[in-house]
Amino acid sequence: MECKCLVLASSKGGAGKSTICMVVAGRLAKQGVRVAVLDADPNGTISSWHRDYAAEYPMTVVHEVEETEIVPRAEELMEGHDLVIIDTAGFGNRSTVYALAVADHVLIPSQPSGSDLREAAKTIKMVQAAEKMTKRTIPARVVLTRFNDRTKVAAHVLEQLAGIGVERLQTTVAHRTVYFEMTFSGQVPVGDAAGQEIDRLVAELAELGAVPSAKAAAVA
Ligand SMILES: Nc1ncnc2c1ncn2[C@@H]1O[C@H](COP(=O)(O)OP(=O)(O)OP(=O)(O)O)[C@@H](O)[C@H]1O
Ligand SMILES: [Mg+2]
Repeated sequence: MECKCLVLASSKGGAGKSTICMVVAGRLAKQGVRVAVLDADPNGTISSWHRDYAAEYPMTVVHEVEETEIVPRAEELMEGHDLVIIDTAGFGNRSTVYALAVADHVLIPSQPSGSDLREAAKTIKMVQAAEKMTKRTIPARVVLTRFNDRTKVAAHVLEQLAGIGVERLQTTVAHRTVYFEMTFSGQVPVGDAAGQEIDRLVAELAELGAVPSAKAAAVA
């Protein structure tokens, strides 16, 4: 099976990149997919999480803070894994530019606010520039996080996104204390509302070809 490279990108700090990275990587690793995470954030959020929970979530995690090393490191990881996820740093860091060079898919977490959507639109522009530079198509989608779909602002955000022609995942991630608690507990939710939301997220990404399905990984 060919390895897929999913990049989490957003010029906005605290948008939810590392949280999405953790739940997608954690869930797929538990299902037997050979996952590698390239942690390109100097803060090392994923690296410190995995240091404590490696036994529970078997995957390779490499912390690479040297931006120019991102491409060769990602290429190395693509050998021997089914999925490489790159967790980029937020504001003021060029890791995203380099990560886009090797991305098969880009996921842009965005919270439901005007400033978040503007930043998401900027990130889409970065992807479009990378497409031109690399002369290939790089599918990019927004995933709405801390999103409560019963609010007025939610309807407005969906309208705005459609208006600017930005594609999004149908799955949205709600604002839940359990995601915040995950930074202490290290546990990716299973079974409850958050767990089901993560299952839908992973299933939609597999349907889009952005991550391998656990079944495909098992027969490969
Ligand atoms: N859906 C959610 N519900 C509740 N809390 C959340 C949710 N998503 C993220 N958080 C919390 O918000 C904070 C920022 O999230 P996260 O670290 O994933 O963002 P980030 O985009 O990786 O930030 P940075 O740009 O600094 O790397 C964390 O404390 C995280 O636990
Ligand atoms: Mg982060």
